Amino acid sequence: KKISIIGVPMDLGQRRRGVDMGPSAIRYANVVERLQSLDYEVNDIGDIEIGRPNRFDIIDEENLKDLKEVVKANQKLASAVSDIVAMDQFPLVLGGDHSIAIGTLAGVAEHHKNLGVIWFDAHGDLNTGDTSPSGNIHGMSLAVSLGIGHPYLTGINGFAPKIKPENVVIIGARALDPGEKELIKEKGIKVYTMHEIDRLGMTKVMEEAIAHVSNGTDGVHLSLDLDAIDPHDAPGVGTPVLGGTSYRETHLAMEMLAEAGIVTSAEFVEVNPILDDKNNTATVAVALMGSLFGEKLL
Ligand code: ARG
Ligand code: MN
Ligand code: MN
Ligand code: MN
Repeated sequence: KKISIIGVPMDLGQRRRGVDMGPSAIRYANVVERLQSLDYEVNDIGDIEIGRPNRFDIIDEENLKDLKEVVKANQKLASAVSDIVAMDQFPLVLGGDHSIAIGTLAGVAEHHKNLGVIWFDAHGDLNTGDTSPSGNIHGMSLAVSLGIGHPYLTGINGFAPKIKPENVVIIGARALDPGEKELIKEKGIKVYTMHEIDRLGMTKVMEEAIAHVSNGTDGVHLSLDLDAIDPHDAPGVGTPVLGGTSYRETHLAMEMLAEAGIVTSAEFVEVNPILDDKNNTATVAVALMGSLFGEKLL
């Protein structure tokens, strides 16, 4: 099986600069070599070009910061991801802030009409311009993929929605805004908060999550926001929240996904080497990719 890597040096979906260096940081942590050592053919196709926002062209009054550049970049990403899936290769997307999930899912969903999604995150990313406290599009990407939000965003790649609420599971949540909580209830989205992870243990959570996203789906996308992991283990993220999953729990989750053999595309996002300590967070991301792609000690 072949893996195609795409970098997305996107930092316009939030306000802290430096997350655009995430793809470089992950490459520096030897992602290609790590996956090659697992006997994959790895093709790094480079980075998606991100435009610079024109500050005289502000449509922030809609509470969607840098909307136009985020839309353009995600349209390019959607085409690139779609081409990879069409060639029967595994798309592995490196972020960049979490707004890039909009493009990744738009590309994958062109080929998978009933895509399951595992959203590993401290946050729900279920805001819209109307509910977002920040106007940052990285906090809206899951809602957009469900077809909820500004039509420029939901309409990327020409169809909406990309995914169905019953095919989604969020794991690691511990910071949700009021509008996101409402949407979760309204759509009946399955969420494993840190409470459930502590209470049931990661093994049970992953068994249930895997069953949930495999039920009636034709592929599973893993969207892993590094801020799902406790900031002690993954400090290089723009929106850290205390009390996340441990390095060990997160590896276990990846190992269980590898054993289940269900994941058909993945992205690792929000790595910000500027906020990090010695590229720790990219190193963690690459180690987790190792487990996701079947690395074992013995
Ligand atoms: N809920 C907050 C917001 O909408 C934080 C979102 C953080 N999202 C992320 N992808 N790190 O601004
Ligand atoms: Mn920048
Ligand atoms: Mn997050
Ligand atoms: Mn996120």
